[in-house]
Amino acid sequence: MKVVRVGLGKRSYSVRVVRSDVSHVAHSISRSFPSMRCALITDKTVAGLYGESVLSALRGCSIDTELLALPAGEATKSSTMLDRVWKWLLDNSFDRNSTLIVALGGGVVGDLAGFAAATYMRGVPYVQVPTTLLSQVDSSVGGKTAINVAGTKNVVGRFHQPQLVYASLPTLQTLQKRQFRNGLGEVVKHGVIRDSGIMDTLVEKSKAVMARDLSVMESLVAESCTVKRDVVQRDELESGERQVLNFGHTFGHAIEAASKQRVHHGEAVALGMVAACVVSEKLGYCDASVREQVTSVLTSLEIGTDISPWWTTSMVDWMMKDKKARGDSVNFIVLKDIGKVGIHSLSFETLRRLIQ
Ligand code: GLY
Repeated sequence: MKVVRVGLGKRSYSVRVVRSDVSHVAHSISRSFPSMRCALITDKTVAGLYGESVLSALRGCSIDTELLALPAGEATKSSTMLDRVWKWLLDNSFDRNSTLIVALGGGVVGDLAGFAAATYMRGVPYVQVPTTLLSQVDSSVGGKTAINVAGTKNVVGRFHQPQLVYASLPTLQTLQKRQFRNGLGEVVKHGVIRDSGIMDTLVEKSKAVMARDLSVMESLVAESCTVKRDVVQRDELESGERQVLNFGHTFGHAIEAASKQRVHHGEAVALGMVAACVVSEKLGYCDASVREQVTSVLTSLEIGTDISPWWTTSMVDWMMKDKKARGDSVNFIVLKDIGKVGIHSLSFETLRRLIQ
């Protein structure tokens, strides 16, 4: 097991990256939160794989637990589903003082259940049990919770830190290849923004990574969470430095939206990182060798890097609709070298010119 401690004063917590079965979270919960009642929230896909074992492990530890399985998919991150969660909590008499929400699943479940925890009875504690690589290395850490409204992603939400993140590595074995690669996109991002050994591991052990070797994945997930932890500790509420975690996301979000989500988040971020390298080169921050390093790692992980279909000025129109747009510009994360990023306020007009 590797433990990454997120130090945020009273809101501090541990990220436990474990090789044991996900149901073992019950022991951690019973030790750390005795006498709480658990509201176990998941989706139907994850419920089919792990719902029963986690539920019975919690009950086996004498924790009073109810389970709610929502439909799987991005559409679940909605006000309708949030309302359903609130009503279910009320119907099951979850109260202000003894409720612990347990989010078992990927980013959709984590963001929705986290937002329910942030708002129910003006805020109750919650535990993240991420079961996808994307949620283990990114969304479960850092306290961002949200739902989508009218097609705009994460537009209503709160910062609400979990009490514990329990990342069980064996859950990675049941991910489809594309889902696994999707998470690798964010691992590469963490490797690119902080020179922390992640890039070396990805290059030297790409075969073991693709085989989801437990020991290699344990290091990569823990190192990814450490990179994110360091940034979040310095800027929890994203007033400055936390924006560097958006490296690759300006183009990435535009590609996701333009493709109508056919290009998945991690794949879009990977393409967005390549595009961000090109922009950084054009702005004089780095030379082509940096882009070559990024594309070579992505390629060794079988992640697409061909940005030519997306290198069009219509991308700028999508970027202007993104919630991170600031009037006629965007805080664009530029790359100076591996491990060295900067924030460049870039007008959409300049960006259009660079693309043409
Ligand atoms: N996924 C970026 C962040 O949590 O800030």
